[in-house]
Amino acid sequence: MTADFVTKYGPWAIVVGASDGVGALFAERLAREGVDVVLVARRQHVLDEVAEGIRERTGARTRTLAIDLTHADASQTIIDATADIEVGTLVYCAGGDPNYEPFLATPISAAEALLQRNCLVMMRLCHHFAGPMVERGRGGIVNFTSGAALAGGRNIVVYGGTKAFDMVFTEGLWVELHDKGVDVLGLVLGMTDTPALRKLEFERGRLASLDEVPAGAVTPESVVDEAFANLGNGPTIATADDVRMGLELFKSMSRNDVVRLIMQVSADTMGTDAPRGG
Ligand SMILES: NC(=O)c1ccc[n+]([C@@H]2O[C@H](COP(=O)([O-])OP(=O)(O)OC[C@H]3O[C@@H](n4cnc5c(N)ncnc54)[C@H](OP(=O)(O)O)[C@@H]3O)[C@@H](O)[C@H]2O)c1
Repeated sequence: MTADFVTKYGPWAIVVGASDGVGALFAERLAREGVDVVLVARRQHVLDEVAEGIRERTGARTRTLAIDLTHADASQTIIDATADIEVGTLVYCAGGDPNYEPFLATPISAAEALLQRNCLVMMRLCHHFAGPMVERGRGGIVNFTSGAALAGGRNIVVYGGTKAFDMVFTEGLWVELHDKGVDVLGLVLGMTDTPALRKLEFERGRLASLDEVPAGAVTPESVVDEAFANLGNGPTIATADDVRMGLELFKSMSRNDVVRLIMQVSADTMGTDAPRGG
């Protein structure tokens, strides 16, 4: 535990999407640094287990909030449930796409749910919690985005769009807040070995079992390490070599060429439509 860390980023952090994978690890890392954590996700029993583990291993206080972020009142529910504590850090991790399907293959309600969870709720929480952080002259905001934000692609039409919003929104927020004592960081993840990725890859027939590690995926621990090493190095960092390589390669290309390249690579590796289970 470090007093400086708690002063800067505590006493409480909210981690949205904290029941497994990177979010749960992120919450535990904050707790190890002495910050108390509010854990948000849908599955109450899993949140309870994560919270208990964090309390036992770190001694930090925890709070859990089981809500579905696709519901219209999600951000207000989080705001109400944390009105009595000082939130020094906001981590918005929830955001994976459970579908990976062509835009026209899912009802528009699925796209709207992604937009609500990945963009609207994240934006509302940033608006609510960043103000007091600026008044205090300290705090941290970490938003999760994706290599899918770098260009549009098949089966990630809406997901990629939401992640591009997250990346550019976070960059703009960094511009406005970084000299006011608030660290703002966008994490651009590549393939990362989370339960959500394993489930998706299994359903798509690309993993034989949920015990397999998806090929090329980095560990969630490495993502959290990168994030903690760079909390003050915003606005944006990539947390995997595939994203770093993409960023480097795309620098010298037109956007149209980038999109065509991605279209070609994904057709070679995944087929043209790559529906679930196929
Ligand atoms: N894994 C990758 O390969 C990868 C690659 C690029 C970017 N990313 C980004 O990294 C972040 C984490 O991804 P992930 O693979 O761990 O998948 P994820 O589906 O975002 O799951 C992360 C957490 O979010 C919670 N969550 C998901 N949907 C929710 C909802 N509607 N309401 C409340 N909580 C919800 C999940 O718990 P519950 O199920 O209990 O709700 C879980 O705790 C995302 O922002 C994703 O875009 C991941």
